[in-house]
Amino acid sequence: MRVRVSEAVARAAGSLAAAGVASPRADAELLAAHVLGISRGRLALAGGFDPAGLARFEELVARRAARVPLQHLTGTVGFGRLELVVGPGAFVPRPETELLAQWAAGVGGEVVVDLCSGTGALALSIAHELPAARVYAVEQSPAALEWLRRNAADRAAAGDRPVELVAGDATGPAVLADLDGTVDLVVCNPPYVPERVPVPPEVAEHDPPAAVFAGPDGLAVIRPVVTRAAALLRPGGWFGLEHDQSHREPVSRLLGQRFTDIDDHRDLAGRPRYVTARRVAD
Ligand SMILES: C[S@@+](CC[C@H](N)C(=O)[O-])C[C@H]1O[C@@H](n2cnc3c(N)ncnc32)[C@H](O)[C@@H]1O
Repeated sequence: MRVRVSEAVARAAGSLAAAGVASPRADAELLAAHVLGISRGRLALAGGFDPAGLARFEELVARRAARVPLQHLTGTVGFGRLELVVGPGAFVPRPETELLAQWAAGVGGEVVVDLCSGTGALALSIAHELPAARVYAVEQSPAALEWLRRNAADRAAAGDRPVELVAGDATGPAVLADLDGTVDLVVCNPPYVPERVPVPPEVAEHDPPAAVFAGPDGLAVIRPVVTRAAALLRPGGWFGLEHDQSHREPVSRLLGQRFTDIDDHRDLAGRPRYVTARRVAD
């Protein structure tokens, strides 16, 4: 016997709401679409769940109610025009970072570096939007690098120019030292949440702490990353840096003498979210 999708989704949305999930209806629909192997927009046309499909759906809903991130359950996340694979050990790319990716694609450049690349969201979307660019992705965590390698291979197989992957510390002077003074565009979405700031269970229990938190003020990675970006960029080259909403002023101060045209950008909720600036000549 088949169970109507609308009934199963309504029940699931109720239990997700009771568990404190922020977008219960959307998550229930996305899990249903995942199990049925169709897009969310086609759910209304689906014939219903057979018993095995319903059991699978209910199992995923229970895990989501236990606050496992939706993207770990479906195995993918949409980022701009790309779909990336994600899972345990890597930070799930966030929609607000798409704003930084769009800005970067608009600025352009022949040599582009993404510091703290994670699953490759920024690097791979820039490579997709700027086919002539030589894009480098720097990441330190071995687990994140595994996801980055998979996404980079998928994008190269889809026809994008391959991104060069660099395993290393984005805050140290050695990483990509041979590019110093030549880079047109550096982007970075580093860890920036101040320690002890409460985060939802999806983040606390599933995003790696080193991808989220950065010292008592959240600037522990941003401080040296600004120095690294300044060294990599050519005079006139652009830097785009995502940060915590509390960082607008300290980040402007850090950019200080080495950058000009410093501009704050807000996210979809109106919070200061990323800064862009241009390297001055020494
Ligand atoms: C907030 S996540 C962002 C990932 C990706 N840029 C995105 O937007 O989805 C920060 C990433 O920086 C990496 N990271 C933290 N410190 C680093 C360092 N010193 N060098 C290189 N990567 C670092 C973490 O492993 C994590 O993947």
